[in-house]
This record gives sequence, structure tokens and C-alpha cells, in this order.
Amino acid sequence: MKALIKQLVETYGPSGFEDEVRALIRQHVEPLADDIQVDAMGNLFALKRGEGSGRRIMAAAHMDEIGLIITQVEDAGFLRFSGIGGIPHKALLGTRVRFANGVTGVISHDGGAAAEIGGKELPDMGQWFIDVGARSKEELTVGVGDIAAFVRPFDDLGQRLLGGGLDDRIGCAVLIETMKRLESSPHDVIFTFTVQEEVGVRGARVAAFGREPDIGLAVDVAPTGDTPHPRHPIALKLGGGAAIKVADAGMISHPGVRRALERVARARDIPYQLEVLPFGSTDAAAMQASRAGVMTGAISIPSRYPHLTAEMIDMDDVENVVRLLTAYLSDPNPIENQE
Ligand code: CO
Ligand code: ZN
Repeated sequence: MKALIKQLVETYGPSGFEDEVRALIRQHVEPLADDIQVDAMGNLFALKRGEGSGRRIMAAAHMDEIGLIITQVEDAGFLRFSGIGGIPHKALLGTRVRFANGVTGVISHDGGAAAEIGGKELPDMGQWFIDVGARSKEELTVGVGDIAAFVRPFDDLGQRLLGGGLDDRIGCAVLIETMKRLESSPHDVIFTFTVQEEVGVRGARVAAFGREPDIGLAVDVAPTGDTPHPRHPIALKLGGGAAIKVADAGMISHPGVRRALERVARARDIPYQLEVLPFGSTDAAAMQASRAGVMTGAISIPSRYPHLTAEMIDMDDVENVVRLLTAYLSDPNPIENQE
């Protein structure tokens, strides 16, 4: 699975420009699916038909990653930009970016890199620029509207993996692995690889509307609170097991889905932890509010440093998320009765 993860995180795919990563995922899921479709926005659907009168379950992970879009070109060849998705400013200085055509550059800001050392406030987005080494505007082969992705090498640390864009290529890897392991299910399962999550769960919204699932389940990363002096009190720990989402800033999981996930985890001895995030959200928020409402929950892979150029995950967590998702999707009662 590590080879698949490496391949996924090394593929270009900022929000709205997921073609390359979709083509790669399609190669992997085509032999595993009963039907493959791509909708107008670019969401990829891989259906595994159920053997019985089960529910229609949409399991979704987003293909897109955060990036930068050029807004203006200066005569001297420097590129001004704005963010695609939530960009942590503190991670920009000195970071490398790469455009779809291979042009690579480094990020700095007005006032020079030295301004940072005094511990001053971070500059506004408009004061940052990308330097691709051009000596003038005329030398540039990228311009307004071109999209850069962050350069973030992948490293296998053994038990743990380091790489940017694990949000949410790790979720995509989990769905692909689950498709391989899911032998039989009473449910029609629509494995959905969404676009544009990072700019406001836009792909998941139309995916859920178009496919009309009974149950929605998002698979994404969730930040942990286990590094020294964390800013937010979060109970999640790296290596602590699959995270079953109770709530985040954008959604409250359907209690019946959440309880069924917990029951399945306990029955199979799958380590799990409950996730409550005071900020952020994921595709589940859009799926839940589709049409007349969809019973929706989420399973997360705990992650350190999401949206930075090196995120860290633990392979035990990945395995436990795959086990939990596979067991849940084959369980005859995916909605636990209310107590
Ligand atoms: Co994200
Ligand atoms: Zn994500």
C-alpha cells in the first residue's frame, strides 16, 4: 500500500485541476468496479454493486490538494498569487512550488526573507511572490491563471509516513484498498473521489445530489493534538486508531451512523478514537445537507501538520481505517437505532 500512497501523493492535483490524479485513480479502480462514471465537475464514481436489498452508501475521499494561483505578473518576472484552499502563511517562506508544465520556483515576500527573523506579523497574501528564476517577464512560461502545487517529497519513515498532500490522497488510497478487500456487501457502495474539497466541499455537494445515497461517509485526515503544547485541545493521537468523527465545525455526524461505526469497530477489535474538531470540516458536511438530507458520518486518518509540506501519518491508523471501512460497508445494519 505504501507504493500506492507514494504514487498518489507525488501526483499533481490542486483543486479544479484534478485530471492527472483522477486518471491515476481511475487506473486503479477500473478493474475493481462494476461501473465507472465521471460527472461534469470531475468527481469520479466507482460503483460496487451489492448482493441484496441493502442501502446505497457513498464513501468519499477528495482528490484535490491545496495550491496557489497566479494573479499578476511583475515586469521583473516575479509572480503574485492567491491561495487555492486554506494556505497556512507561516508555511510559505522558502517553500518550493511546481506548475503543471514543470516550472519550479520558490516563495518569498516583500521586505525580503530577513523580515521574518524579527518575529514580525506575517505579510498579507498580496505581499508574497513566487520566483521561478526568470530574469524578466519575457522569459516566463507561466502567467496569470496558472496553478502551482507545493513541492513536498515523500519519505517512508517505517511505521510512519511523511509527505505533503496526504490530505487527502491517503483517503483515496484507503478507498482503493477497501475496494480490493470488500468481498461482498448487501449494499451498493459508490466509492467517490471528489474534486474541490479544499475550496469549500464543492465536488461532494454535486456528487451527493447526483447519486442520491441513503448514507454518506467521508474519509479524510484529521489533525491530532499530540505534539508539544498544541494550540487546540484535541484528543486525537497519531497511532491511536481509526478516528470516528462525532463533530467538526461544519457538521455533526448522524448518531446512527456513528454508533454503527463504533459497534463494528468494537466487534472486530479495531482500535478507534472519537474525533471532535473545533475547526475545519470535510466532504461529509456537503453530503449531509444534500437534497432532503443524507445520514452521514466520517472516518478520519489522524494526521500531524495538515496543509504543511510535510504531513505525518501512522501506518497502523491507515490499516485500522481500512479495516473499519471494509467491515462497516459489509455490515447489514449500517444505521444503529437511536437509544
Ligand atoms: Co485539507
Ligand atoms: Zn482533506
